[in-house]
Amino acid sequence: MVKIAVLKESASHEYRVAVSPESIRRIKALGLDVLVEAGAGTRANFTDEMFVKAGALIEHDVPKILGQADFLFKVQSPYVSEAENIDHVKYLKPGTILIGLLSPYTQRDMLRRYQEQKIISFALELVPRTTRAQTMDVLSSQANLAGYKAVLEATNLYARSMPMMMTAAGTIAPAKVMIMGAGVAGLQAIATARRLGAIVCATDVRPAAKEQVESLGASFIAVIDEEFKAAESAGGYAKQMSASYQEKQAALIAETIKKQDIVITTAQIPGKQAPRLITKTMVETMKPGSIIVDLAVEQGGNCELSRVGDVVEHQKVKIVGFPNMPSRLAEVASSQYANNLYQFFLLLFHKNDRRVQIPWDDDIVKSCALTRDGHIIHPAFQVNT
Ligand code: NAI
Repeated sequence: MVKIAVLKESASHEYRVAVSPESIRRIKALGLDVLVEAGAGTRANFTDEMFVKAGALIEHDVPKILGQADFLFKVQSPYVSEAENIDHVKYLKPGTILIGLLSPYTQRDMLRRYQEQKIISFALELVPRTTRAQTMDVLSSQANLAGYKAVLEATNLYARSMPMMMTAAGTIAPAKVMIMGAGVAGLQAIATARRLGAIVCATDVRPAAKEQVESLGASFIAVIDEEFKAAESAGGYAKQMSASYQEKQAALIAETIKKQDIVITTAQIPGKQAPRLITKTMVETMKPGSIIVDLAVEQGGNCELSRVGDVVEHQKVKIVGFPNMPSRLAEVASSQYANNLYQFFLLLFHKNDRRVQIPWDDDIVKSCALTRDGHIIHPAFQVNT
């Protein structure tokens, strides 16, 4: 019988797990076995008992789990540490199919390990943003939660209130919130801040964002010139902007930011360092007690002062650099991730014949496939690229 293996995630700050009781039930209904490392779901509130009830087998011995796997479902890359002399990849049989957020842009050495071990690997973050792939879009499911949680984290540290309050003791003005980058995370951050009663504005370099921002009741702030009008790539992602555009954008941000109480930054360019949007000088113009949450902190940060894993305080402004924001909502983030992964898995598994059959010419499969038969097959990661 085809076996799906699931491990406890080993990366720091990673509390998610690649299956949920619901996804295990759906996999079992296809006639497959699910083998889960003991305690894999605990940090996402999924106990071993819940997994067993859904049909999984629990196992303690990691090499044993990996050695039996036909598929390995992961959130992040398998654990390999030279210093600790741990290598989870070496236990996988050639031909094992690994699916997860494999960070191929930054973890080229892992790609070589998959290649050497002759495993088939798929990076879920490379699922194209097309209508057909929507149910597998992990970037959206996780960014949506990150945007929501970022506002709550900011609110928690903010020592004033979000909505306008009129009481016998006087009137409290509503908080002013600025969202930088109005993609999936940014739009959810706008909606969340609006629900809490804040006055919200947002900025982005993609023209399509303007209408989306305004439809959520926020005002759109951007340098609208010819470059802006052409700034969206065919895939719907932002392009890297020219130095002169960035200068104009910086001036506009500098003007706007000093009036804000909370700033949430989400700006990213896939595969590249995040754009630097908030300088130290800009932070110094903000009011004491203001909060910045930098959701791009792990990609180099949108704010000059943010540090991964820290809340930096600079002249009474707090800059939050929590890594892996979706993991702070590990239960729902895991459930959504597990659903996305299951949908992707259905592309590779022939339901009626109950066997693995990879449609190598499918556009979604082609976009995500990294290695196969001892070769790196994704054109973006082949040697000399
Ligand atoms: P992302 O996480 O790559 O970036 C976040 C946002 O930052 C983007 O809106 C981007 O334009 C913006 N940004 C980049 N550089 C900036 C700068 N210098 N200043 C201000 N903002 C900047 O984006 P995400 O959330 O992954 O969305 C990317 C695209 O994919 C969007 O067009 C989104 O609408 C689209 N999308 C399409 C889906 C579909 O059709 N199935 C599903 C989800 C997203």
